[in-house]
Amino acid sequence: MSSSKHLLIKSIYHEKIDRTPIWIMRQAGRYLPEYIQTKNKAGGFMGLIRNPELACEVTLQPLKRYSLDSAILFSDILVVADMFNMNLRFEEKKGPVFDKPLRSESDFNNLPSELDVSKLSYVNETIKNIKQELNGSLPLIGFIGSPWTVATYLVEGNSTKKFTHIMNMLCQNSNLLNKILDMITTGSIHYVKEQINQGVDAFMIFDTWGGLLSKEDYYNYSLKYVEKIISSTKSHGKPIIYYSRSNSNFESLKNIGIDCVGISSENNLGNIYNLFDKKIALQGNLNTEILKQDNSVIKKEINKTLASFPNDTGHVFNLGSGITPDINPDKVAFLIDQVNEISSK
Ligand code: CP3
Repeated sequence: MSSSKHLLIKSIYHEKIDRTPIWIMRQAGRYLPEYIQTKNKAGGFMGLIRNPELACEVTLQPLKRYSLDSAILFSDILVVADMFNMNLRFEEKKGPVFDKPLRSESDFNNLPSELDVSKLSYVNETIKNIKQELNGSLPLIGFIGSPWTVATYLVEGNSTKKFTHIMNMLCQNSNLLNKILDMITTGSIHYVKEQINQGVDAFMIFDTWGGLLSKEDYYNYSLKYVEKIISSTKSHGKPIIYYSRSNSNFESLKNIGIDCVGISSENNLGNIYNLFDKKIALQGNLNTEILKQDNSVIKKEINKTLASFPNDTGHVFNLGSGITPDINPDKVAFLIDQVNEISSK
């Protein structure tokens, strides 16, 4: 039970609510012209996330336009690499790049032996600024990537969707992969604790690429580490949302202390809610592509998504994956108004 007044938190804890809360993954992003403007002012994406004033400003941009039910920290799952002294860059149209990826024992042994937690103090500043601006009006979601998902970037070195190097490592040198996952887990535990100390109201674990693994590997290389992070941070009492794309191993999420599971669009909310015996809240799962359709189609699909969830509470409306730069901001306004209206009936 929470004593929170926020709809997002109440719904996650299955408390009585009068409509379904909504927020949007990547709600502060390139589909908003004001985001592009601030990003240019900051000299690019990395400049933006490392500038606590401007990162706070873009966090608030979607909240000024829309009646959303939560803010989410503007940052990236890959900043955790700062702690390992791995230099993260972003290239326009290509995404994240690490010039010295972790492919061998010697790459790993060249990293500093101690984690430098202070490297992420700019995120603390950003959270402080956002909390001050929100002044309790809305909750703030903090986040990390799952160790497995972060490792895919540290090992591949970029946003390739082939995962050749990490799958090779898993098959040929799982000992090294485990060492890398252990390092990210330790760093993430520090980082989540910092975010909680700064006052985030919930936190989300993005395990975007966990669904890539077979059932056994999913446990051994992803969930086991997620479980470790949860058990080391759970005592802070903040709800935990876990997201993975195209997951087909939901069974294994039942008993590891997750409060809400983010679902991508290919799954049916009702089926998964039943699989969890209606005990774990769900977040999702409208297909982002629907936002390119006429309003009548969007409305029909919103109705379908809401109807697929078989309870009056326990659902947080969201897209099934992050919003993309090709979405018209007016469609987002329509989506949010419709969800607010339809779910109030
Ligand atoms: O949701 C939010 O608004 C909060 C901020 C946020 C970002 N990234 C900002 C961002 C969050 C929660 C993330 C998570 C993230 N980052 C994930 C997991 C979620 C998912 O999308 O599956 C992953 C895999 C990353 C790593 C990452 N960041 C990639 C692969 C890319 C390039 C692809 C892309 O979408 O551009 C990014 C860039 C990124 N992260 C942008 C934003 C707003 C776009 C940066 C820009 O060019 O302006």
